[in-house]
Amino acid sequence: MTYARTRISKAVIPAAGLGTRFLPATKATPKEMLPVVDKPAIQYVVEEAVAANLSDVLMITGRNKRPLEDHFDRNYELESALTAKGDEARLARVQESSDLATMHYVRQGDPRGLGHAVLCAEPHVGDQPFAVLLGDDLIDPRDPLLGRMIEVQERHGGSVVALMEVDPSQIHLYGCAAIVPTAEEDVVRVTDLVEKPAPGEAPSAFAVIGRYVLDPSVFAVLSKTQPGRGGEIQLTDALRELAQEDGPDGPVHGVIFTGRRYDTGDRGDYLRAIVRLACERDDLGPDFRSWLRTYVREEMQD
Ligand code: G1P
Repeated sequence: MTYARTRISKAVIPAAGLGTRFLPATKATPKEMLPVVDKPAIQYVVEEAVAANLSDVLMITGRNKRPLEDHFDRNYELESALTAKGDEARLARVQESSDLATMHYVRQGDPRGLGHAVLCAEPHVGDQPFAVLLGDDLIDPRDPLLGRMIEVQERHGGSVVALMEVDPSQIHLYGCAAIVPTAEEDVVRVTDLVEKPAPGEAPSAFAVIGRYVLDPSVFAVLSKTQPGRGGEIQLTDALRELAQEDGPDGPVHGVIFTGRRYDTGDRGDYLRAIVRLACERDDLGPDFRSWLRTYVREEMQD
């Protein structure tokens, strides 16, 4: 007799960070709500989870994160005003975010790092594998990554991280993986992980980008993981232990992503993400590109 595996259906999105890099914009507004063109950054992330058939989304939030809950909830006042005006298009845009997924929220309380944020998901997730999506990384919907990671996890068990080859000068900004190839070109076995390695200590130029499909055994490891880099409980450190184990909780695989990724984590990258995404929009793109071409030409003459 064969047993059908329970399909992975839960996504966890840590969103408790203070967003200090965007002050003063983030003094009273969560950084996840900053618009990328005309949608808050966090909506792209929830849409990505839903596109990978993860319709149960748990956000790990903290103080000052109420606007996140409001964004994914109904807004009857706005909806009735738009209905009265007959503005169907805007009404649809308002309803889009509340109809996306089943949303759940838990507060992290003490912000003790990404590993601790993921540990807060344990009562909701239970004993099934689950996905983690970090809000600072946006993955272009035309280059699906999460679906491939889920498929790899379902075949190999254990946990799966998303990896991207970066310029070696940038690897100190990321978790870094030591890897060995597998029979599949875009899948590697992860043998070690280092969180934000010091120059000269990175085992490779393969960076962990913010997508994970995790075996629930990560919770037991996280509950014992000591504060690491920056005095925080690091998810990378817990995964390192799973990667090195030969026990029933491993292995850790990596899916190598070569598609389009937009970083919204710092101000320069955030601006670049907005320009790139605006250029690609059917409604705004044509006008915006033509303005941008003129603007760049003028800048180059200076
Ligand atoms: C986190 C992780 C790091 C990962 C990165 C991806 O770091 O700790 O391993 O490479 O996300 O964006 P953060 O950027 O939150 O400091």
